[in-house]
Order: sequence, then C-alpha cells, then structure tokens
Amino acid sequence: MSKILAFGASSSSKSINKRLATYAASLVSGGDVTVLDLNDFEMPIYSEDRQKEGIPELAHAFKKQIVEADAIIISLAEHNGTYTVAFKNILDWVSVIDQNVWMERPMVLLSTSPGGRGGARILEIAKDSYNYLGGKVSGALAVPNFFDNFSDDNGLSHEELKKSLDDLISTLEEDIAKI
Ligand SMILES: Cc1cc2nc3c(=O)[nH]c(=O)nc-3n(C[C@H](O)[C@H](O)[C@H](O)COP(=O)(O)O)c2cc1C
Repeated sequence: MSKILAFGASSSSKSINKRLATYAASLVSGGDVTVLDLNDFEMPIYSEDRQKEGIPELAHAFKKQIVEADAIIISLAEHNGTYTVAFKNILDWVSVIDQNVWMERPMVLLSTSPGGRGGARILEIAKDSYNYLGGKVSGALAVPNFFDNFSDDNGLSHEELKKSLDDLISTLEEDIAKI
C-alpha cells in the first residue's frame, strides 16, 4: 500500500479544501491515507528572530509526515489571492528545516472555493513555486463553485471535473509506481 498524505491548506473547521483533498485521496487505489488538520500544527508566526530561538517541534512533526509519505495531495484555500496564513506559516517553518520541503514526493495540487475561479490563482502560485521547494507535481486542478459541484455523498458531480480529477489520480498512481 502506498502512503498518501492529504490535507486542505486551511485551518477552517469546515474547510471545503480539506473535504476535497480527503475525497481525492480516497480515489487512489491501494492508498493508505493520512489526512492532516492544520490546526494540529499551529505555531508562532515565523520570523528569523524566532528561528534563532529554535524551530518548533511541530514543524519537525509536519516534516516527518512528509518524510513518511509516498505521495501528497494538497487542496489549497485562497485568501486574498494567496495562501492562508495558517498554511504559509507551516510552509515557512518547514522550509527552514530544509528547503527541499516536498522531498520529490509525487504531488497532486488542488484548489477550491465557493466562487467561479476555484482558487486558480493560488494554485498557479503553488505550481510555480514548488519547483524550488522539492515539489514533483503530477498535476493540478482548480474546482470552481464547490457547493454546486461537490457533495460528501457523491463527491464531484461535475462530469468534466470528475474526469480531470480521475486523470490526475491515475498520473499520481503512475508516478508512485516509478518510485
Ligand atoms: C480572508 C478571506 C479571504 C478570501 N479571499 C479569497 C480569494 O482571494 N479568492 C477566493 O476564491 N476566495 C477567497 N475567499 C473565500 C474562500 O475561498 C472560502 O472562504 C473558502 O471556503 C476557503 O476554503 P476553506 O473552506 O478550505 O478554508 C476568502 C475568504 C476569506 C475568509
């Protein structure tokens, strides 16, 4: 079984991105899925001064989850065109342990929002920047109008989006097999 690490890059207790990431991970055949809640990794706001006092244990705990994973599925929430503070803070802390944050793990990047762009802007930012952070992105998909297109019972109901997600997951499975 391959170990799939999944999370929504949001600290909202009702995160639609967490729901989407959890659903996407459930589509990986033979996946042993761990879903993280970013609230379990809340740390002081990153600063170089605080780093000199030491990197929080929670940053190491997050890194350990990446180390132990075979593949990673993230669904990104967009706040004012960029990452949520909750996720960016974790990313900053983990990046000072090692700039190779994602350790060449095959990754699927998703985003969703209640609106028509589905967080496409933050998805683009992540896709571009992860090259510099050890990311090996198998594919990316923005899911617009989340509440019209998704239900916990049926998953993605939008035919084209579901096909795109299935294709992404197949590519991820192929990339995992190459490890
Ligand atoms: C402070 C704030 C800023 C937001 N900015 C954006 C935005 O730039 N683009 C967007 O599509 N949605 C934006 N939204 C709406 C979020 O997409 C929406 O809250 C969504 O549920 C966030 O995902 P989550 O449920 O996984 O946290 C914003 C919401 C908040 C609270």
